[in-house]
Amino acid sequence: MRAQATGRGDAKLIVFGEHSVVYGRPAVAAGLPSGAEATVRRSDDPGLTIDHPGGRLPVDDQLEVAADALLSVFDVDPDRLAIHVDIQIPVGVGLGSSAALATAISRALARLTGLRGREANATVEEAVAASETVFHGSPSGIDQCAAIDGRFFSFSPNDNQPVTRLDVPATTWVVARVGPPSSTAEMVASVRQLRARKRQFIESLFDDVADLTRRGIRALEAGDWKTVGEAMNRNQRLLKKLDVSTPDLDVACRAARDAGALGAKLTGAGGGGCIVALPPADDIDAVGRALQDHGEVFRFEL
Ligand code: MEV
Repeated sequence: MRAQATGRGDAKLIVFGEHSVVYGRPAVAAGLPSGAEATVRRSDDPGLTIDHPGGRLPVDDQLEVAADALLSVFDVDPDRLAIHVDIQIPVGVGLGSSAALATAISRALARLTGLRGREANATVEEAVAASETVFHGSPSGIDQCAAIDGRFFSFSPNDNQPVTRLDVPATTWVVARVGPPSSTAEMVASVRQLRARKRQFIESLFDDVADLTRRGIRALEAGDWKTVGEAMNRNQRLLKKLDVSTPDLDVACRAARDAGALGAKLTGAGGGGCIVALPPADDIDAVGRALQDHGEVFRFEL
């Protein structure tokens, strides 16, 4: 029996379709090269510690409930486990930190408990879904897929095979952390309330997002960045109508476009957090520089 094991999970970038994906529409995301790394140890000194770029993360009630849900899937005694996680991305800003965290811990636990192959994969999926339900309310599963499998993919939650790998030519994406952290569960709940009040309007808005996502998928695979950028801008206008953008996110998107970005939109649940911009290949720096006035800037070669 192993005494210690490690695991990792990827953070993610949603390029098209957040929120509408919760209602069955397609979305596009990519796993990021950074994410979370977990070490689990059998120990008489149990506990959960999480470090992130801002320091030690307080283990609040939501995290405890999510950890309990995740641990209940494994054949382990939680009172004899020391878990430590290093998260390499900012937390709660739309980059999928919760799914990366849950995936890292679940993979480490699968190894610790000797699970292999299909059984290990199924158990990790079940554990991450249990944890994500606590953070998202009704997760579509897109963050989980990115955290577990990385790469670029389209996600159609109602299909038998929801994940389709996309063959996207390598390019640089600029991400800026513009607003404060927000709660995905609260943002998803606010969209649910809006949809309950204005069902026809919101459903047709989701259909518009689905159309631009399909167009965006074709353009991504063709490396037609101008069309990708236009679809991102249209997605941002629709996210604004969904009331999940904020003045700070809108201003940063405009600043990115003024600096030459082909497209810019919020990424993730909104209500704060990050935007993603697609800079022109010949002037990536201009977009990065313009966004520095709005928040911390990251570049991802995907
Ligand atoms: C959050 O990263 C993405 C949302 O669409 C929620 C989900 O799909 O579970 C807002």
